[in-house]
Amino acid sequence: MIEDEREIVEWVNDFFNDDKDQNLIGALQALQSKFGYLPKIGRKSIAARLNMSPANVHAVATFYNQFRFVPPGKYPIKVCLGTACVVSQGKLILDHWKRRLGIDVGEVTENKEYSLDRVDCVGCCTLAPVTIIGEETFAKMAVTRVDGILLQHQIQREQEARKIAAEKTEEDKSQSEQ
Ligand code: FES
Repeated sequence: MIEDEREIVEWVNDFFNDDKDQNLIGALQALQSKFGYLPKIGRKSIAARLNMSPANVHAVATFYNQFRFVPPGKYPIKVCLGTACVVSQGKLILDHWKRRLGIDVGEVTENKEYSLDRVDCVGCCTLAPVTIIGEETFAKMAVTRVDGILLQHQIQREQEARKIAAEKTEEDKSQSEQ
């Protein structure tokens, strides 16, 4: 068993040892909250703890669109499809993110930068429709804003990367002068 897998199995065991009344959905939600997705070994461990077959656990997990089966991208994009967001064209916005990123819900871009998920109400319905990128919430979304937001996000990331590289160069320079 590789190191990451051992960590996941141990986490599942601790989770059930802490609270023996755990149910399947609660365990899957906690697993995803911890690792960002549902690793296969985690689903298998949960199945074993609940005396279920891994196939049944997988079937239940795929029934709910809140679960993802591959690790999220560096910057997860979440499109709210709660009621207030749906009536404000949330589905059109989700479709445009799919087209723009070239991925479907639950997938990750080839460079692993962005993943796309639909989420239920995130609790700020007055700002509907809402998209969340990483920790940042974008309110009153519109299809026409998607391209601009993505471009702005990419420019910010490039600027941050350049700043970190410049700081590292400065640090290396001052160390070599000592
Ligand atoms: S429905 Fe989207 S924030 Fe509530």
